[in-house]
Parts: sequence; C-alpha cells; structure tokens
Amino acid sequence: MAALARSASTGINSVPFTVTVAETTIARQQLTHAILLRSALRILFMILGAAAIVWVAVTLSLRPLYRFSEALSQRSPDDLHPITERVPNEVQGLVDTVNSFMVRLEGALDALRHFTGNAGHQLRTPLAIVRTQLTLARRSGNLGEIQQAAEKADEAVGDAERILAQLLLMARIDAASRSTAMRDVDLVDLARAVTAEHVPRAAEAGIDLGFDGEGEVMAVVEPILIGELVKNLVSNALLYAGTGAEVTVRVGSEQGLAVLEVEDNGPGISSTRREAVLKRFERGDAGAHGRPGTGLGLPIVDEIARLHGAKLSLADGAGGKGLKVCVVFSGAA
Ligand SMILES: Nc1ncnc2c1ncn2[C@@H]1O[C@H](COP(=O)(O)OP(=O)(O)O)[C@@H](O)[C@H]1O
Ligand SMILES: [Mg+2]
Repeated sequence: MAALARSASTGINSVPFTVTVAETTIARQQLTHAILLRSALRILFMILGAAAIVWVAVTLSLRPLYRFSEALSQRSPDDLHPITERVPNEVQGLVDTVNSFMVRLEGALDALRHFTGNAGHQLRTPLAIVRTQLTLARRSGNLGEIQQAAEKADEAVGDAERILAQLLLMARIDAASRSTAMRDVDLVDLARAVTAEHVPRAAEAGIDLGFDGEGEVMAVVEPILIGELVKNLVSNALLYAGTGAEVTVRVGSEQGLAVLEVEDNGPGISSTRREAVLKRFERGDAGAHGRPGTGLGLPIVDEIARLHGAKLSLADGAGGKGLKVCVVFSGAA
C-alpha cells in the first residue's frame, strides 16, 4: 500500500487530502508469474529454433561425409582406387590422407601378391621334380634307376626345405619389425660363433675360412636375426667363392659405428648385378650352374640390415677380386 498526503487550496483555505493506492499480494505474485512464464517461453522457442537451425545445417554439411562413407562401404575389399567423392574443403584433408593410405596399402598388397606368387612357384618346382622322380621309380624295374630317382627326389626335397626355411625366416623378420627384441650384443662374440659353425663346411669345400675381430664391439641388435644375416653371407661365400678361396668374417668399429664384413676372393658379383641380387628370388649365373639356393639369401640380409637401421653395401673384395659385403650399424639401432 502507498499513501501520498497533499493539500489542495480552495482560494480561501487549504484542504488536506491523502491518496492511497493498494494492491493485494496475490495480484503482484500473479504478475511476476506471468512475466516469468512469458520470458521462459520466449527462451524455450529460441532454443528450439536454434536447435532446428543447427540440425539442418549439420545434416546438410555432413551429407558429403555420409556419401563418402557410403562410397567406402560399398567398395569391394580389393578396390583401392582413390576416392573421388566431392567433399567440403574442411574434410578434403581427411580424404587425401585416406587416399594416400590406400595407395600405400595397394603397394603393400601388390608386393605380397608378387611374393606369394613367386614363393608358390619356387615351391612347386621341387615338388614337381619329386613327383616325376617317384613316377619314374615306380615304373622302373631297375634298382640302379630307382636309386638315381630317389637321389634326385631327395635333392628336390632339400631345395623345398631350404625355400621354406628362408620364407619362415622372412616371416620372422616381419614379426620382429613389429616387436623388436633388440638388446646390447657383442658382435665379435656372435660373428665368431657363427663362423666357427661353418668351419667344417669350409674345410669340405676346400676354403680357408677365417675370423678377424678383437675385444668387444657392442651394438643394439636382435641376436638371432644378426646370426642369420652372418650365416647367409658366409654360406654364400662358401658356395660361390670356389675351391681354394679365402673367406674372412670381420667385425670392427669405424668412427664409433659397429661394422660387420664378409669378404671372399672368389668371382664376386659384377657391379651391374649387385642391385638385382638384393631382389627376392634373383639368382646369379652361379644359380644356373647348379648350386642349391633360393635367391632369398641376400634379400633376407638386406631386410635384417634395414630392420636394424644398418647400411648394407656390396663391393669388390681386396685387390678388386671377389665380393665384400659390409654392414654398418648405426649407433641408434
Ligand atoms: N660371395 C659371393 N660370390 C659370388 N656370387 C655371389 C656371392 N654371394 C651371392 N652371390 C650371387 O648372388 C646371388 C643371390 O644370392 P642369394 O640371394 O644368397 O641367393 P642364392 O644363394 O640362394 O642364390 C647368387 O645366386 C649368386 O649368384
Ligand atoms: Mg645364398
């Protein structure tokens, strides 16, 4: 309630009066409620309106992404062509990344197909020989011929075994590149042990196999794989250097980096062929001369070196004769 006291003049005298205005509390509360309700409704409509606008805008702008995902899901798994759906600039980066990933995936798949094709072919050849020799032996009544067939079949089985062992080794390198069991290893110790294993075979082949390395040369490596690397290089040298040759396995350090070398003074590999023999299933002329082999030895050496971040090089041996394979380990392996 509000009261205002005033006085009015009649000209002769003044008459006091009071104006009183009153409102009930119920009416005031109803007014506040009405105001509150109105503004709440207004805000609610604004929120709903904004939500509708955002929904429409998001749906519209995401439509290219839906098309993109539909295009991807409708593809057959071997279709790795780049995606050409039109997308807004903001997501073009994503599409480019996916496309470049698909290109790399395609490359890897191609390599895998090529490799399995080659591996299958390499395994099929010895198996076909075994089958032919078995057929010959079955038809022949002559014991000498049967023995000869058995010998040839045995050789072919040996070939198949070698190929399988190398393929399994390659699979192990792939696995190792994912979970490396690298540790600090003395390369002198490791290489000397592998060399010693090959001494009987060297003697058989009439080759002088020696080891050169003193003290300790430490490097962070996967010892089993580095053992395989040395084995492959020494086996090659024993196989291709020829009777009377000298083969040296050497471990040392140059400018603080561990270096492993296998050198022989045999016929070597001509500089034009050195890149080719690092490819899988590539064999030199020596292969044609009937030496057992798979053409996987040097590629395996190459992969093991790469896995260790080491640098592999093929060069002439001392005096320009023979082959020197050199593996330089980086300190950060
Ligand atoms: N120490 C070597 N001296 C001469 N030729 C070699 C030597 N090592 C490798 N080669 C050549 O390189 C080729 C590829 O070697 P590799 O990859 O180990 O396959 P493989 O020994 O099974 O043929 C061999 O076929 C051979 O012609
Ligand atoms: Mg070999």
